[in-house]
Amino acid sequence: MPTSRRIRKAVFPVAGFGTRFLPATKAQPKEMLPVVDKPLIQYAVEEAYAAGIRDMIFVTGRNKRAIEDHYDTAYELESQLEASGKNALLRIARSVAPEDMTCSYVRQPRMLGLGHAVLCAEHLVGDEPFAVLLADDLMVGPDGGEGVLSQMVRTYNNLGGSVLAVQEVPLDQVKRYGIVAGDAMGDGLTQVRAMVEKPSPENAPSRLGVAGRYVLTPGVFEEIRRQPKGAGGEIQLTDGIASLMKKESVYAYSYKGVRYDCGSKEGFLQATVELALAHPEVGGFFKDYLKSLPL
Ligand code: UTP
Repeated sequence: MPTSRRIRKAVFPVAGFGTRFLPATKAQPKEMLPVVDKPLIQYAVEEAYAAGIRDMIFVTGRNKRAIEDHYDTAYELESQLEASGKNALLRIARSVAPEDMTCSYVRQPRMLGLGHAVLCAEHLVGDEPFAVLLADDLMVGPDGGEGVLSQMVRTYNNLGGSVLAVQEVPLDQVKRYGIVAGDAMGDGLTQVRAMVEKPSPENAPSRLGVAGRYVLTPGVFEEIRRQPKGAGGEIQLTDGIASLMKKESVYAYSYKGVRYDCGSKEGFLQATVELALAHPEVGGFFKDYLKSLPL
């Protein structure tokens, strides 16, 4: 029996090189790129925190120190802001890491795929269900309401099996996603019967593409470990989940909200424009500015 059935821990695989964002990612992590004024990783950590999770586990690699520093105390900055009475800014700096949140770091020594990255966190997760968030998918709840991971934790609490966030994707884009198919259960839920990583349009079992949010039972670790290495020695999370599915129920959940694929330049620009328009401080200015452009 798992030690806890409640989702208390979140794993953030952040070891990737972010090559699609070179040269910006030559010396800094992709997850520290800001959308308006907040780095991508912070959006994901805040989403996990809002879902009741307090244990954040980062799977990092070389060049990722900035993420650890972001979640550490910034003594010099804080004492400077305190001395100059800049209390609003001080609150912003301190709010990054709330006191009841703990952060752990483990390194993925070689980029051997997302499944391998999740496996690197096994000893920190232990024998309990957990969430996985890919920070380059920036998710916004419907009308800024309930976050996507909160919706998924609620679904997990109701069903008790692993839950994958999915969305319908255009047929010509299925090759960019893990694609699932199965039995529709109503309320945006599907019991997953098949799962394939990046299929061609002809071989795709559906158009339900997996987004970067997962709630997984600890049984997935054993299944990932048993996977043969794929191309380039990579171990895919999708393959681990596909084999978990043969032993336990796995559900796909059509989340409510918007996903921005910030691992791509197009998605990153969309997120920047839309979140800037909704930003309380700069939204009004930005809207007027966009309207003034001779597009
Ligand atoms: P991506 O393939 O989208 O990210 O992996 P990337 O490799 O950093 O980006 P590009 O393609 O070179 O631009 C999805 C997520 O999985 C993590 C990445 O950090 C990213 O958040 N990941 C992937 C790992 O942590 N380790 C891996 O071995 C592979």
